[in-house]
Amino acid sequence: MSNSKKLRGAVIGYGFISGKGHIPAYLERAKTQGDVEIIAIADICEMRRNQAQEALPHARIYSDYKVLLEKESSSLDFVDISTPPCDHAAIAHAAFDKGLHVLCEKPLTPTLEEAKSLLEHAIKAQKVLFPCHNYKHAPVVKTIRDIIQSGKIGRVRSLTLNTYRNTHAKGVTEWKTNWRREKKYSGGGIAMDHGSHTFYLTFDWLGGYPTAVTAKMSNLEPQKYDTEDNFTAVLTFPTGIAHAHLTWTAGVRKVIYTIQGDQGAITVDDDDLQLAVMKKSGGPDVAQGAVTWEVEKQTIQSNWMDASHVSWFNSLFDQFKTAMQNGDFVGKEAKEAYLCIQLITTAYQSAAQGCKELPLSTEIMN
Ligand SMILES: NC(=O)c1ccc[n+]([C@@H]2O[C@H](COP(=O)([O-])OP(=O)(O)OC[C@H]3O[C@@H](n4cnc5c(N)ncnc54)[C@H](O)[C@@H]3O)[C@@H](O)[C@H]2O)c1
Repeated sequence: MSNSKKLRGAVIGYGFISGKGHIPAYLERAKTQGDVEIIAIADICEMRRNQAQEALPHARIYSDYKVLLEKESSSLDFVDISTPPCDHAAIAHAAFDKGLHVLCEKPLTPTLEEAKSLLEHAIKAQKVLFPCHNYKHAPVVKTIRDIIQSGKIGRVRSLTLNTYRNTHAKGVTEWKTNWRREKKYSGGGIAMDHGSHTFYLTFDWLGGYPTAVTAKMSNLEPQKYDTEDNFTAVLTFPTGIAHAHLTWTAGVRKVIYTIQGDQGAITVDDDDLQLAVMKKSGGPDVAQGAVTWEVEKQTIQSNWMDASHVSWFNSLFDQFKTAMQNGDFVGKEAKEAYLCIQLITTAYQSAAQGCKELPLSTEIMN
C-alpha cells in the first residue's frame, strides 16, 4: 500500500462513538490529510441511519452490515466496527472473509474464544486487526510515557489507576441507551466496558504483562441490571504490581492515576500532572526524612470530559494506517486487546470465586 493511497472505509454502527468521535475525525482528516474516505455506513436503527445520511450525504447507508459488505467490499480497504461488543466478532469475521482490514472498538470481544478466533482469522486472511485503544493517544498519557522513558522516575514498581464515573456510559437514545448494563449486549459491566483502557495502560507503564489477577466487584442495582457497576482488581507483574479501581457510581467523572518509580512518581488527575523526582542525597541508606523531592506541575489539555475522545482518534488512525502499510496483521495492539480480554474474563472468574488469585498466561499465539 503506497503512502498516498486514499483509504476507503465503511463504518458499522452509527451510534455515539462513531457519530461524535470517528466520523467527525474522518471528515477532518479527509479535509486536512486527504487520505481517508468513508463510503458506506450500516446501522440497524432507522433513526441512526437518517442521521448518518445527514452527516455523510455521499455515503451509501445500509440496514444490514452483511448487505453492505456484499455490495461495497470490492471498493473498500477497511471496516470500522462501532457496534456494541456482542457483534464485534461476527462483523470482523465477515470483513476478513471479504479481504478487508478491521478497526474495532474496545472491548475487542466479550469472550476470549472470540478474541482468539479473530487474531487467528486476521493472520489467515493477511489483514490487519486493530483495536481502538485510544487512551494511549490522550496527550497527558503520551506525556506519562515520555517521562517513564526518560528514566526520571527510575524503574516503575507500582501503579494505581482509578476511573470514576457518575453513571454507566450511555449509548444513543434512538437505540438501547442502557445496553452496557445488559450482559447479552455488553458481555459485562464496567470492567468489560472500560477495563481494556485501564489494563493496556498498565502493560505500557510496567513494561510487561501481568501473570496473575485477583478481583472483586459489585452491582448496586441488581434488580435492574445483570452487570457490575463497581470493580477492583490487583494485577501482579514480573516487575511490580497494579491496582485498578473502576466505578460507575462515583460522585465525579475523572481519572486519577499514580505511577511509582524507585526514583520518583507521577500523579495524574485528569489534565493535571505532577512529577516528583527524588533529590539525590547521601546514597541508598539515608535517614528517614533526609530525602526531598523536586516537584514539577503541569496541565496538559486532554479533553477527558468529552467521552467521544474525538481529538485522540487521528493519532490512533495513524497507527492503524501504518499497520496496514506494513502488513502488521496482528501487532502489539491486537495482542494486547487479546490480553485485556483474558484479564477481564479471568478477573470475573476471580470475583466469582471470592477474589481467588488466578494465573494469567502471557502467551498469545504461537
Ligand atoms: N474507545 C472509546 O473511548 C469508546 C467510547 C465510547 C464507546 N466505545 C465503544 O464503541 C462501541 C459502541 O458504543 P456506543 O457508545 O457508540 O454505543 P451506541 O449505543 O451509542 O451505538 C451503537 C450503534 O450501533 C448500532 N447497532 C447495534 N447493533 C448493530 C449491528 N449488528 N449492526 C449495525 N449497527 C448496529 C445501534 O443502532 C447504534 O446506533 C462499543 O464497543 C463501545 O465500547 C468506545
